[in-house]
Amino acid sequence: MNPRHQLDLHLRARYPLLWLPTAEEERAEEDLRAVAAALQPAWTVWAWDCADGFGGEEAHRRLPLPALEFIAAQPVDEPALFILRDFHPFLRDPQVTRALRNLAHELRGRRQTIILLGAVLDVPPTLTDEVTVLDYPLPSAEVVGAHFDQLLGAFVEHLEPGTREALLQACMGMSLVRIGQVLRLALAADGTLDERAIDRVLAEKEQAIRRTEVLEFLDPSEGLESIGGLDGLKAWLERRALAFTERARRYGLPAPRGLLLAGIQGTGKSLSAKATANLLRVPLLRLDVGRLMGSLVGESEGRAREMIRVAEAMAPAVLWIDEIDKAFRGVSSGYTGDSGTSARVFGTILTWLQEKTSSVFVVATANNIEQLPPELLRKGRFDEIFFIDLPTTAEREAILEVHLTRRRPHRLREFDLPALAAASEGYSGAELEQAVIDAMYAGYEAQREFTTADIARALAETVPLSVSRQQEIDALRAWVAAGNARRATV
Ligand SMILES: Nc1ncnc2c1ncn2[C@@H]1O[C@H](COP(=O)(O)OP(=O)(O)OP(=O)(O)O)[C@@H](O)[C@H]1O
Ligand SMILES: [Mg+2]
Repeated sequence: MNPRHQLDLHLRARYPLLWLPTAEEERAEEDLRAVAAALQPAWTVWAWDCADGFGGEEAHRRLPLPALEFIAAQPVDEPALFILRDFHPFLRDPQVTRALRNLAHELRGRRQTIILLGAVLDVPPTLTDEVTVLDYPLPSAEVVGAHFDQLLGAFVEHLEPGTREALLQACMGMSLVRIGQVLRLALAADGTLDERAIDRVLAEKEQAIRRTEVLEFLDPSEGLESIGGLDGLKAWLERRALAFTERARRYGLPAPRGLLLAGIQGTGKSLSAKATANLLRVPLLRLDVGRLMGSLVGESEGRAREMIRVAEAMAPAVLWIDEIDKAFRGVSSGYTGDSGTSARVFGTILTWLQEKTSSVFVVATANNIEQLPPELLRKGRFDEIFFIDLPTTAEREAILEVHLTRRRPHRLREFDLPALAAASEGYSGAELEQAVIDAMYAGYEAQREFTTADIARALAETVPLSVSRQQEIDALRAWVAAGNARRATV
């Protein structure tokens, strides 16, 4: 949603206390001032920080409590917006949080709103009921475009045709401050703006992704052809890929949401996530949920929102949430351990999954369905839930073919794939690949090419994981048979 529209709605609805987490103070204040000025009657804007107070003479108002007293002392019928920049460190002081809470109660119903503005989102538990967090999105193409022309001034005319568009596209997903920095750097280093500037922007963007500390940028080389079997899943993906295009958007198709892949270890869930990004020809962002949930309590929530913003700004993209079951084990909306942070992070992600309209295709993978909060499995979160079972005989043959083609394309016909497939009931794709590698070791050691017999021996020497996991597999299969998921194999 347009940030000004969002702010306007909340001011008119008389929210007393809003938290706007963003590092883009300038742009946010510009939006806030524009919204305040457009209201009827216009609202007065007061901006405070601990260095300048409210910008007036009275030095003591640089302190947080006197600043809040100043707000409390304003005439009740005077519409006003109070921006408190970087206020969050003061919220560690119980007197300050209490004062803010009292103030929020007083302002309720008045045309007066306090905005906490800063890069950090860390709502103390005592304030969660009073504070409403508004997400402040990264700048839109329009905003970046206007900023661009202003920044480059006369330079714009010297740009090669197409370069402006390409640069603009590359800049999406960055804050205006960063865009300014990287373009000035490019101008200083290259003396002009050309292809090299685009590379600089992309490098800067990768850093932004890394700075979230929970997202990783991947450029997967594996495509659908590197998946043996799973024909049902592959056909589904190919159909969705058609719906992922700009043309489909114009036709009126909603952007595909994503899918959840469930199954035991080594059956190709992670591989399928990578192949999806490759198929859609978009960047792959891997989310480390464990790390997200493990970050300092309180910080997790801000990070989750930051992660979503960066992912949306990178759209079209695939967001891969690997091993989602481990991070959200037992979490649900009602869960209140660690003062509710896990539940809030989970809620943030859940709401986003439900409501997102951007072209971010989510691929989540899970081993253990039972540990997943039921909310996640409800309709509307994912387009489809797929169960990846142990490969069938035909699939094992296909998987062996993938791995042998990769390593010995010219000798493929020398291997007896049907015999190996028949001898590997219960083995996962990962175990089949490992048997091929073990056979290669054996051949290399004996200074000869490896053979079908080497692979068969490697298989015979290992016990597949499925033997010890039989119960888990049976439970998963029963869950699928009850109509909870679709089978990836046709
Ligand atoms: N269907 C398959 N076709 C080809 N290779 C496969 C297949 N399944 C697994 N493999 C091989 O096994 C490797 C490991 O599989 P992958 O990491 O995708 O398993 P996973 O289901 O994500 O397991 P985990 O639950 O342990 O994360 C893959 O990189 C691939 O080389
Ligand atoms: Mg995996």
